[in-house]
Parts: sequence; C-alpha cells; structure tokens
Amino acid sequence: MKLDVNGREREVKVPEDTPLLWVLRDDLQLTGTKYGCGLAQCGSCTVHLDGRPVRSCTTPVGRVGEAKITTIEGVSGRVAEAVQQAWHAADVPQCGYCQSGQVMAAVALLERNAKPSVAEIDAALKGNVCRCATCHRIRLAIQDASRSLEG
Ligand code: FES
Ligand code: FES
Repeated sequence: MKLDVNGREREVKVPEDTPLLWVLRDDLQLTGTKYGCGLAQCGSCTVHLDGRPVRSCTTPVGRVGEAKITTIEGVSGRVAEAVQQAWHAADVPQCGYCQSGQVMAAVALLERNAKPSVAEIDAALKGNVCRCATCHRIRLAIQDASRSLEG
C-alpha cells in the first residue's frame, strides 16, 4: 500500500492490520517514534494524521488511507520550530524516551490553539506519560512556545 509519510510517498508491503508504529519503525526506519506500552496508554508512539495526534501503536496501517502521516522526523513549520526552541530553552528531556510523543502532542495542541490555558495543556498532554517527571518543564515549554507564537 502507498502512504504519505512526511511529505513523501512511501510504499510498503504489510498486512492491513499491522500497527502503523511497526511500519514506521521497522519498514521505514523512522525510529524517532517510540514503542512504550503498545496499548494506547503512554503516548510515546504519537504521530500526526492530517495534523491530529494519534497513537500509532493501535492504528492499523490499513486505516490510514490517504491521510498525511507526520512523524517527529518530519514535523516542521512555525509551530514546530517554536516548540523545538522552547524544548531546548527549558532543557525538557530527561531520559528522552517519551519526548518525541510529547513534542508531537504539543505541536498538535498549538496548531489548533495557539494560546492554551494550563488546563487545556494538561488535558491535551494527559495521555502522554513521562516516567522521568518532566511534566512541569513540558508545561512551561508549551507556554513559552505559545508566547513566542504571539509575535
Ligand atoms: S506505545 Fe502507543 S500509547 Fe504507548
Ligand atoms: S524523559 Fe524519560 S520518560 Fe519522559
């Protein structure tokens, strides 16, 4: 089947019920998207489908259709740059394992709501678990990115 991944057409030969996460990591070598729980419980596998954050571990590749898939390797644009800069400035990551999912969730939030409240940030990120407890820095970085998008 053909997939639109990070703006490129990619062809893969896999069963339709293969999780998108496996296809990204094993067939397309896009290993920035991480496997955590495999049960839609941790958010480390978050990618965008047409800009919406989804759990790639529980998304069968056959359901993707013509949706544009964006992974941490391909996320770009003004919002993504603001998030990446804020992440660096706040020195957010600890072990790093959850971070690509956190960044993808943050970019999706700020793309649809450039000035989220703390409650909206917490609601948007609540499914993204960080075992290193970087949640406070993640919140601060999202607020910083939001401010930088105001200009
Ligand atoms: S690996 Fe997909 S939500 Fe945990
Ligand atoms: S930085 Fe280690 S799990 Fe989040």
